[in-house]
Formats: sequence, structure tokens, C-alpha cells
Amino acid sequence: MKIAVALGALAAIAAGASAFAQGTSDPGERAFSFCFSCHSVDANQTETLSGPNLAGIIGRPVASKAGFEYTEALKEYGKGKTWTPELILQWIQDPRKMVPGTEMSRPPGPRTDADRAALINYLKAH
Ligand code: HEC
Repeated sequence: MKIAVALGALAAIAAGASAFAQGTSDPGERAFSFCFSCHSVDANQTETLSGPNLAGIIGRPVASKAGFEYTEALKEYGKGKTWTPELILQWIQDPRKMVPGTEMSRPPGPRTDADRAALINYLKAH
């Protein structure tokens, strides 16, 4: 029984991943396709990815997700700061330029202003 439940959950995860991979008509999901291999926006997702959970990231203090081991560089940079849309857009443009020593490298997208706006709206909604 337990195994069947676990397999069902795996199938659901696989289905979600392939929905991303196949491209979706939702501009926010398309923009987040540059992030989802390392980040989840599902608050219930346990931290098994290489990046911290991004549920509720806008307005959240930098490097504050309990249970995630941030680099010293990001913890130091983040003192007294919270993630605003502007800061996130600066971050994804070149994380290692903004915070030398961070583990996150520059994602290859989103590339257009419209896609970046869609990403922010997507993050706001999660
Ligand atoms: C290859 C993996 C990877 C990808 C792809 C990636 N990230 Fe990250 N991200 C990380 C890691 C690792 C950290 C933690 C960095 C640290 O501790 O220095 C991080 C940290 C962050 C943080 C800081 C979170 C906090 O709690 O302070 C934000 C915001 C973020 N990423 C947004 C994004 C967005 C938006 C995208 C897609 C456009 C993205 N990331 C793509 C690996 C990734």
C-alpha cells in the first residue's frame, strides 16, 4: 500500500516536471522553468532540491528559509535585507556578481522584460 502511494506521488512529480519541460502556455510557468530544477514554489515540498524553497519569497528576508544551508556569502549579504521584485531581478541577472561567493550561478533566462515580469508575478502568486 505504502509503495503504491509513493509511486503515485512520483508519477505526479514526473508529470509536473514534464509539463514544465514540454513548455506551457502559462508565461509565469515558462519563466519559472529556468528555476524549477533547483527551486520549488510549493510550500509543502520538502527541501530535496539544491536551492531553497521559494514559496513566499517576495517580502521574505534574504537567506532565511529554515533548514536550508546557505553560503556564508549570501547570509552576510542578506543581513537586514528582504527580497523585493527589484532585488530578485538584479539577482537572477548575475548572482555571483551581486554576491561573490554564492552558490547560485546565472540562470540562462528569463530573457525578455515581459518574461521577467511574468516570473515576478508567478513568484508573487506562490
Ligand atoms: C542550478 C541551480 C539553480 C537554479 C537553476 C536557480 N537557482 Fe536560485 N539558488 C540556487 C542556490 C544553490 C541558492 C542558494 C545560494 C546561496 O546559499 O548562496 C539559490 C538562491 C536563490 C534565492 C535566494 C533565496 C533566499 O531564501 O534568500 C533566490 C531568490 C533565487 N535563488 C531565485 C532563483 C530564480 C528566480 C531562478 C530562476 C530564474 C533561480 N533561482 C535558478 C540554485 C539555483
